[in-house]
Amino acid sequence: MIRKVKGTRDILPPESRLWNEVESRAHDILGGFGYSEIRLPLMEPTELFVRTVGEGTDIVSKEMYTFPDRKGRSLTLRPEGTASVARAFIENGLGQRPQPLRLSYFGAMFRYEKMQRGRYRQFSQIGIEILGAATPAADVEVISALHTFLAALGFDDLVIVLNNLGDPEDRERFIEGLKAELMPNKAELCGDCQRRWNENPLRILDCKVPRCRELVAETTPVADVVSDEAKAHVDEVEQALAELEIPVRRAPRLVRGLDYYLRTVFEVISPELGEDTVICGGGRYDRLISDLGGKPVPGVGFAIGEDRLIEVLPEAFKERVFNQRMVTVLPVGDRSMAPAARLARELVLAGVEVHTEVTGRSLKACLKWSGKMNAAVAVILGEQELADGVAVVRDLRHGEQETVKLDVVVPTVIELLEKTAETETESI
Ligand code: HAM
Repeated sequence: MIRKVKGTRDILPPESRLWNEVESRAHDILGGFGYSEIRLPLMEPTELFVRTVGEGTDIVSKEMYTFPDRKGRSLTLRPEGTASVARAFIENGLGQRPQPLRLSYFGAMFRYEKMQRGRYRQFSQIGIEILGAATPAADVEVISALHTFLAALGFDDLVIVLNNLGDPEDRERFIEGLKAELMPNKAELCGDCQRRWNENPLRILDCKVPRCRELVAETTPVADVVSDEAKAHVDEVEQALAELEIPVRRAPRLVRGLDYYLRTVFEVISPELGEDTVICGGGRYDRLISDLGGKPVPGVGFAIGEDRLIEVLPEAFKERVFNQRMVTVLPVGDRSMAPAARLARELVLAGVEVHTEVTGRSLKACLKWSGKMNAAVAVILGEQELADGVAVVRDLRHGEQETVKLDVVVPTVIELLEKTAETETESI
């Protein structure tokens, strides 16, 4: 038997319905904020991520799916979307369009990570980026769109944490200070951090090893050493979010695992998954496009880990999705097949989910199947009934049925479904 690749998943029905519904809500709400979808390639030249995410990051140094194509070019399965958005911005001359440009993206990302709950090697992100706006207002909009989307899914326990990374110039100063403060205990840092010390010292702040965390906790937070401009920027973001009643908490050690960020960085944490399994990460990256050879175009955005989001979806959301009522159409006898197909078509066009019996089993078996499928209503089309121009509409929740004229089957079914929905809501 051939099995799926480690770290990938089959998302089966009915769970896949949750994904569809989450994505549909994301299109509605993020689209409502003006973000239109950009569909990006799943593979990019390796150099794109080396130059943006950063050579010294875990993602680039050990998590990328990199391979030569048949001509020996180094390609990488995208580990994230922001670098591709920046590349596409430059390559397609998107700077010519009215600015700022608001883009969203959906889909698979790949990272060779150790498998655990909420951590996969192929996972999906829902992201937005706003390009061409350097003001705190853009950061506020992005976080407000995020908060609005999460609230629309019914979340009320997620925590947004935020930090100020300053500008790259501040960062150099910060790193010098950090090293000076850690120096007396340098030998106690883990092996990875010893390597980070020279390659990418900021990543020491990301380390999950308890002793490293303890040592880092004693150091001066990055937000304390940033320039006045950077400080004013993030303070303004924070103030506006407070006015919008979007709760955010400062996280002085938050640095994020990608190198392109400056000033505002943020994450969303769910109490259920804990701090190491973040639901969403984002921030500002004003030098990314110019670092890739484009004009200096500022940007800010986020990406939600959809797999993780779905794992902690509120029960009410899941119930709503799973309890969608559907109808079975049950032809009895050969001559009922075409009328059943016609009725199914009419019901579908009226917005009803229909499962038509197509296996040729008996009426008794059909009703049993309808029950197993959790159908709310069954429409029985017998040959005699069809000859009389009628059908039997059976309310499966109450075991009652009525015989109605063929041309009122659809409204009768819809009325029944609505009644079922009402009684279900009352009982919740
Ligand atoms: P990131 O923090 O690397 O940021 O990833 C964003 C989110 O993707 C994470 O918070 C997490 O929910 C999800 N994620 C990451 N790795 C995995 C994994 N192995 N399994 C499941 N979920 C995962 C970025 O990717 C940036 N591009 C976000 C951004 C957009 N910043 C600005 N704009």
